[in-house]
Amino acid sequence: MFHDRNENLTNFFKTFINSEFEDHEDTTAWKKEVTDTDWKHRSDLIERGQCTFLEGVKGLTIRDLVVIYAYYYMEGHAVSLYHVLLNARKKHKISFLNNLIHVDFGCGPITAAIAMAVYNLKHGGKDKSKAGLTFHYIGIDQSDAMLSFGQEVQEAAGRLFNSKSTFEYINAEDANRELTTAIGKHRGFFGATICLNFSYYFASQTIDVPALVKLIKRILTEFAADKICLVFQNADNPNKNASWYQFKDYTKGVLFPVYADEAENVSYINVSGRRGQYVTIKLLHAVLVNQTFKDAMEELEE
Ligand SMILES: C[S@@+](CC[C@H](N)C(=O)[O-])C[C@H]1O[C@@H](n2cnc3c(N)ncnc32)[C@H](O)[C@@H]1O
Repeated sequence: MFHDRNENLTNFFKTFINSEFEDHEDTTAWKKEVTDTDWKHRSDLIERGQCTFLEGVKGLTIRDLVVIYAYYYMEGHAVSLYHVLLNARKKHKISFLNNLIHVDFGCGPITAAIAMAVYNLKHGGKDKSKAGLTFHYIGIDQSDAMLSFGQEVQEAAGRLFNSKSTFEYINAEDANRELTTAIGKHRGFFGATICLNFSYYFASQTIDVPALVKLIKRILTEFAADKICLVFQNADNPNKNASWYQFKDYTKGVLFPVYADEAENVSYINVSGRRGQYVTIKLLHAVLVNQTFKDAMEELEE
């Protein structure tokens, strides 16, 4: 199970994520909209995780909304991504950790980096697992409040990450200009494994799918010699996945499914906003790869 992996991880949720919410200053708006309300009201404030995080609501600041999001949704999303990474490794022999450049679209509170750090605890090998995840993480989000909360998460996660890891945060508006340069800095002489992560992102109403496809195709062309994989996860709800299906259609011929789209229930015991509850996530997930990754996988099979 996810939390059995490491006490740093459980502590991270218990101390940082929980205390940001539970010890929050009782401002007038926080008291009225959060302290004196129930889970449903709080979840509605952030549109069940799908608000833009670009403006405050009912007197709450954007950071307040981010704190509510992290308290109620981050842990479940980290658990389900951990499940996807394990599934890709176990069933399809995909390994992620060879000079990993982790590009996280709609990164939120860098949930995917936490899930990858937990994966490293299990599959990084004895020494690497102890030393924390070594990788280059690039978080992209439309919300500056999310990006700065991501940096707080990075600090709070402590030894889950190796001190040699690098972190870069890019506002989505600047991704076209900055992303390929950011990736290129970390490729190294022997190339990299580039993981393009999309966790609970495709439900967003603000995604411009053709523009996203253009950016992804640029990455695929510039880094064609590297192993590139795309990891997708989202709620298994047809209303939330139209953009994903459109995206997949547009990238046929340059991204190849290792598997797509698997629907599954993933359960875990929550230690943050739904503390003690046995929560079941209805998950849809997929892993796609570029030609170089596909060739490497086929070589392994021979
Ligand atoms: C549901 S949250 C998921 C966060 C994180 N990936 C996770 O799994 O916990 C969606 C995130 O995507 C961001 N987002 C939504 N639409 C976006 C867009 N068009 N470009 C960049 N970020 C976007 C939001 O600000 C939010 O942080």
